[in-house]
Amino acid sequence: DDLGLVAVGFSGGQCKAGVDAAPMALIESGLIDQLKNDLDFDVTYDGQVHSYSEMIPADDPDHRGMKKPRAVSAVTKALSEQVYEHASKGRFVLTLGGDHSIAIGSIGGTAKAIRERLGREIAVIWVDAHADINTPETSDSGNIHGMPVAFLAGLAKEEREDIFGWIQDDQRISTKKLVYIGLRDIDRGEKKILKENGIRAFSMHDIDRHGIGRVMDMALGWIGTDTPIHLSFDIDALDPQWAPSTGTAVRGGLTLREGDFIAECVAETGSLVALDLVEVNPALDEEGAYETIRAGCSIIRCALGDTLL
Ligand code: ARG
Ligand code: MN
Ligand code: MN
Ligand code: MN
Repeated sequence: DDLGLVAVGFSGGQCKAGVDAAPMALIESGLIDQLKNDLDFDVTYDGQVHSYSEMIPADDPDHRGMKKPRAVSAVTKALSEQVYEHASKGRFVLTLGGDHSIAIGSIGGTAKAIRERLGREIAVIWVDAHADINTPETSDSGNIHGMPVAFLAGLAKEEREDIFGWIQDDQRISTKKLVYIGLRDIDRGEKKILKENGIRAFSMHDIDRHGIGRVMDMALGWIGTDTPIHLSFDIDALDPQWAPSTGTAVRGGLTLREGDFIAECVAETGSLVALDLVEVNPALDEEGAYETIRAGCSIIRCALGDTLL
């Protein structure tokens, strides 16, 4: 099988330095060899961690409360083209972040390529402690890593070409084919958006009540069989006990096994076309960085079909 790897060393969707170092840390821990040798993928990788520094404007004042809007816009636009390139050649696309704002690019690129190649709308499974569905107006922080789903689903729009005005309908996703797993820190405005749009969400409460097995049955049942899936996995979905090195850690999260199990269940569908692994920040909780990176690699391997037996 063919896999396209894009390494995105970008941290401008939030305020903490260090999340840009995650792709190199994941790669140095042996990820590419595991994909090639253990999982038998033909890996296409340009050998670079992209920081897109040449695209980032020196002057980038806030716009509608968004911080670094031109930088995030330019980076996600470039990333969407790279992901589109891989996906339109039929490759599985693995994007290593970076903060979660980069999903605007990765999912936008997948959505467009799958529409063109298969005539299908993708489903998105968003595994996260957070919903990342703030609009610029509902966001308290102004950090764009809390907004990617709003831009992807067309709930937030902006005319200016240099501030996400480049996002076209063919890069967008449907709120009806979006499923959340692991939520436990949702802002007021986000709750309203989830309700008003009837978005399917499985919180930690749902996982406690039904168990992760039933939750995965329900989540995949909602999407239906034979729908191409983009899995966007924020490492902060895991409990900080397993993944402490991340910018917005929230206690009471998934166990390591629950995280791997989610990835395994999605792999079993045979419909996964793209995966993001985001928000690993090796500079935070340095003693925990090794564990966090290991957890990230494990989730990637499970999503790519590594099985015990
Ligand atoms: N909801 C908060 C915000 O809008 C936190 C978002 C955290 N997002 C993330 N990708 N870790 O700022
Ligand atoms: Mn998160
Ligand atoms: Mn919050
Ligand atoms: Mn996130």
